[in-house]
Amino acid sequence: MQITLELKPFAALETDALVTYVFDDNDGPKDRAAELDTATAGLLSRLNKSGELTGKSLETTLLHSPAGLKAARLLLIGAGKRDQFTPATLRKIAGVATRYLKSRSVHNFVFLVRDGAATELNAQAIAEGVITADFETDKYKTEKKNNKFIDSVSITGYRDSEKTAAENGIARGRTIAEAQNFARDLVNEPSNKLTPTILADKAQAMAKEAGLAVEVLDEKRIASLKMGALLSVAQGSVEPPRMILITYTPANLKPGAPVVGLVGKAVTFDTGGISIKPADGMEKMKYDMAGGATMIGIMRALAVLKPGVKVICVVPATENMPGGKAQKPGDIQTAMSGKTIEVLNTDAEGRLILADAVHYAKQLGATHLVDAATLTGAIVVALANVNVGVFGSDQAWTDKLLASAKEAGEKMWQLPMDEEYREFIKGSFADIQNIGSGKGGGSITGAWFIREFAGDTPWIHLDIAGTAWNDDAKPWLAKGPTGVALRTLINLVMSL
Ligand code: BES
Ligand code: ZN
Ligand code: ZN
Repeated sequence: MQITLELKPFAALETDALVTYVFDDNDGPKDRAAELDTATAGLLSRLNKSGELTGKSLETTLLHSPAGLKAARLLLIGAGKRDQFTPATLRKIAGVATRYLKSRSVHNFVFLVRDGAATELNAQAIAEGVITADFETDKYKTEKKNNKFIDSVSITGYRDSEKTAAENGIARGRTIAEAQNFARDLVNEPSNKLTPTILADKAQAMAKEAGLAVEVLDEKRIASLKMGALLSVAQGSVEPPRMILITYTPANLKPGAPVVGLVGKAVTFDTGGISIKPADGMEKMKYDMAGGATMIGIMRALAVLKPGVKVICVVPATENMPGGKAQKPGDIQTAMSGKTIEVLNTDAEGRLILADAVHYAKQLGATHLVDAATLTGAIVVALANVNVGVFGSDQAWTDKLLASAKEAGEKMWQLPMDEEYREFIKGSFADIQNIGSGKGGGSITGAWFIREFAGDTPWIHLDIAGTAWNDDAKPWLAKGPTGVALRTLINLVMSL
């Protein structure tokens, strides 16, 4: 899809649809909406008076052949409260416009940015909103909805002097949103089409194309490195595990600069293993590799955005199956770090594979760690599908992440990591056990387990089990994989 900047006055633009947004302050159209009101001989004021146009968040009003405009349609989208307007509002509005018009077989539109909003970040947000909204999960449908597509979008409302800023914003938005869709595409793949080996092949192909260093460790290398925790999960499956390593190194690497380790859980299917999951809803466990997909997608964007710090992406990939060789509750495993683990529940497998991946990332030189994982059902109980659960061992590092999340318009909420919770995973027969012995706090004990392997290295864990998959379509996003946390982590890396 093409996204361009249009500098001509909006009233003169010939397009299938002119799109803009209105606030809910009910004091009539202001600034560029006033211009639009004048151009259309008071259309907005009349709609506003009649109560049809309220500006309520994401309300849509479609008008055909609006008098005074060259556009075939005028689409007005509610922006809600004026004082709560951020790039995140604009991202959603642009997404709503895309999906709304696409479903009505409209193929192009012009998005009008209102006075005072013509910034680089807003151009970026609009591009991101449009591209992520355009993503569909119909890859395996043989009958596509063939007239439902958007092929070009222009952004208008910028002055000549703002051209460079707008174009930079659009380019950055495209890079980030396409990386997000790349990750969503991986998450959408069913497990028969995305085994650990296939995921590694896809990651390798992407990295080579992007010019990133990449290495894939096979089961023999994994065994020779003594990654006993990852192997313990993989042993129940006929599909061999893979450890995917992608590295970005800046052109002028400064000595002493931080090295970021991005670790993502990639269980390409989680049956639970011998502690098997109930059949109902099990099909969703194909998305148990969303953390890994997010990290791989981030690397794709970083190859273009070129941050000033080195980034190492470590993705342990495996299935969790109840095969004849599967590990059993009570089994004791030795992780790469040398710590022994009593596996009380084989369904708490994410933390096992992350234990070795986090340890390995440190060994490869990471000074700052972030892991992302669909780790616990308990995070859905705590935060529903609204916030990503954030856990950290170093408040300064965690604060940076939270600030990046705010900037990216992704909702994240920090949970406590008191030492009391650590007691829950003290082992009876091994150093630690993979589930908590206390009541509740399931997401926190999961986080503590991973932290045991991060040690003193500043570390953040993102539990994305509740947010990586949309059970229902949103007006701005298809049902299915969301690509959550990708934009936040790109911001975090770019801010270093
Ligand atoms: N992959 C699941 C977590 C999950 C649950 C992701 C729901 C997405 C939606 C994870 O491996 C798991 O099974 N966790 C267990 C941990 C428990 C055994 C301590 C869980 O949450 O039930
Ligand atoms: Zn599990
Ligand atoms: Zn899992």
